Amino acid sequence: MKVSASAPGKAILFGEHAVVYGKPAIAVAVDRRAIVTIQEGTDNHINVKIPELDVRGVIDIDNQQISHLNPEDTSELSNDPFKSSYDAGILKYIQKALSNFKTDHGLDVQVDLEIPIGGGLGSSAAVTVATMAAAARYNQQELTLESLAKMAHQVELEVQGAASPLDTTISTYGGFIYFTHKDGAVKIETSMEMPLVVGHTSKPGNTGELILKVRKLKKNHPDIIGPIMDTIETITNEARESIINGEEESVGELMNINQGLLDALGVNTPKLSNLIYQARSAGAIGSKITGAGGGGSIIAYCPGKAKEVLKTLKSVENAFEVSISSKGVTW
Ligand code: PMV
Repeated sequence: MKVSASAPGKAILFGEHAVVYGKPAIAVAVDRRAIVTIQEGTDNHINVKIPELDVRGVIDIDNQQISHLNPEDTSELSNDPFKSSYDAGILKYIQKALSNFKTDHGLDVQVDLEIPIGGGLGSSAAVTVATMAAAARYNQQELTLESLAKMAHQVELEVQGAASPLDTTISTYGGFIYFTHKDGAVKIETSMEMPLVVGHTSKPGNTGELILKVRKLKKNHPDIIGPIMDTIETITNEARESIINGEEESVGELMNINQGLLDALGVNTPKLSNLIYQARSAGAIGSKITGAGGGGSIIAYCPGKAKEVLKTLKSVENAFEVSISSKGVTW
């Protein structure tokens, strides 16, 4: 038997990092996905192939140890995914995701990626959600979207040490959502067009490390970072109203203010800043880091100027246009 499942990546428009402290966030699923295919294995192990990253890994079914077997590299993967090669770190999410499903025989798992790894576009959540959906289908096991999102969040928590449920929620449900810890994903109904360009630096951001960096800053300066988180919450809530009312200029302004506060949280880099200001000069009315920062990507909101912004960002780093995808996980 051969089964496939796929899940979308995402872009966070408002509220990253603050969402780790119980604040709301606004995010969209994008039309770039992780596609996971599972079939019965050729030996007694779980063999994982990720062609886009040139990563191959073997998971021992009995002791759950991962070895990554790139052509020139046969070393065992460290328990800390980020101490080993960054790309191979994704194997840890796949191993944890699959460990929720019993298997008495080997599996061949292929992961095809349309999303850059560590790019702030929710690649690890998309891979985790798609892997679990494919494994559930392979085992002919019923799984509700709610329990899939919960289990996938648990995997992110175990691998990263800290993670909000935002990425796994959006990868599961898709669409344009306002996320709160109390109500989960609430769809934002709007007729507003959201032309978005992603500028992507070649350096991946390490989400786990960045969350810890912000946590340390908050611990050292609670009276400053606490109110910054509160202000990000206000921005996110105002942005929701602006999006619902179709107020483009206001959405752009709020993205730029949110960016200023992400810089204050210490997750900006010179490369990200350069992309952000280049996007604004080319006509974006809002541009900011998307996701954890420290590398990874920016998003530019550019009504009527997407082509110009795309061309400018491409002349500096990688860039691509994304559309909002209403399609969540499919299996
Ligand atoms: O960089 P990404 O795609 O992993 O997004 C991280 C978003 C954070 O708010 C920084 C962390 C989280 O778990 O919500």
